[in-house]
Amino acid sequence: MDKTNQTATSCIRVDALKPDRTIVDRAGEIIRDGGLVAFPTETVYGLGANALDSAAVDRIFLAKGRPANDPLIVHIAALDQLSLVASDVPDIALELFERFSPGPLTLVLAKQRAIPAALTAGLATVAARMPDHAIAKALIDAAGVPIAAPSANTFSRPSPTRAQHVLDDLQGRIDMVLDGGQTVIGLESSIVDLSCDPPQLLRPGGVSLEDLRAPLPELQYQPQYLHDDSAAASAPGSLLRHYSPRARLLLFRAEIDADATAAMRAYISGQSNLGVIAMDAEAKQFLRTGAEIECLGRNLEEAGYRLFAALRALDERGVEEILARYPERHGLGLALGDRLLRASAGHVIDVPKS
Ligand code: TXA
Ligand code: MG
Repeated sequence: MDKTNQTATSCIRVDALKPDRTIVDRAGEIIRDGGLVAFPTETVYGLGANALDSAAVDRIFLAKGRPANDPLIVHIAALDQLSLVASDVPDIALELFERFSPGPLTLVLAKQRAIPAALTAGLATVAARMPDHAIAKALIDAAGVPIAAPSANTFSRPSPTRAQHVLDDLQGRIDMVLDGGQTVIGLESSIVDLSCDPPQLLRPGGVSLEDLRAPLPELQYQPQYLHDDSAAASAPGSLLRHYSPRARLLLFRAEIDADATAAMRAYISGQSNLGVIAMDAEAKQFLRTGAEIECLGRNLEEAGYRLFAALRALDERGVEEILARYPERHGLGLALGDRLLRASAGHVIDVPKS
């Protein structure tokens, strides 16, 4: 029977800067006992379990409905715990962690034997990261073990940036949610694979490709998007359809932003039940079009912070289609574009130059 379907989920508010010890200790105990606790990180909420406990790791896959061929990230509180997770750690890994961690960087390294095969989907490598969040850090310390945690959403849904998003997807399937408010970055960590030569950026995220290339100039980025999961084991996490709202998302790509906006307005005219996500400066173009509007803010950082919540909010309002402009491909725009492309499952409209 599906054990995770019967769990009463407690959701407890915790101060994001000074987490209450008693609450975090209780959460740590749940993790040690093989349970599941969702917690905030600086990127998105994670669904945590003891990374060294194979049965607990299995529970994560079950609760999320995540395919077994998609491996998890292991979270550590300090660099000295890396040896519990990874082996043969190259100097460049330490250099990258020292430069960008705690923070939104995940490194793929050779796996330590104690890490269960279910966690890495049978791969010889493991993904490790050190989150920059007082609650996440306190939880790992309280649990006394590294914590395996994917984003705390149902598989293929937008990642959760608030405790309510976690409850919307996983209430009754997990033991506890530590509610630390809205997560600051809002997009997941950048994943760098150091187990191959040259190193590959597997997922653009909170640390930009430009920043990563300063210490690692040979870093490659060749986005791969799989249309079904038959080849997923060799390229984990590259399924095209991901982070998806229930509504169909259409992505408008143009050389000039104003051309994309004009094409979106033309698409809207005469249609009802549409949503638009747009930067603040562009949002006024959609006033009085009848479309539901979600504003992404003034810059890429604000857009990252708001994207997943905006997709969920438009779903709540029951729109059938969501229109968005493909963002510029630098800085956080690379991560934002990746999430939007996948949320759209590849529905891109190339707008000709006016
Ligand atoms: O910001 C984040 O990274 C968040 C927070 C909770 O830490 N976590 C997160 O986890 O986004 P998840 O499971 O949603 O995404 C992890 C990605 C997956 O696409 C998975 O395929 C990839 O990491 N991954 C994990 N282990 C890997 C490995 N050994 N080799 C290649 N990719 C791996
Ligand atoms: Mg995820």
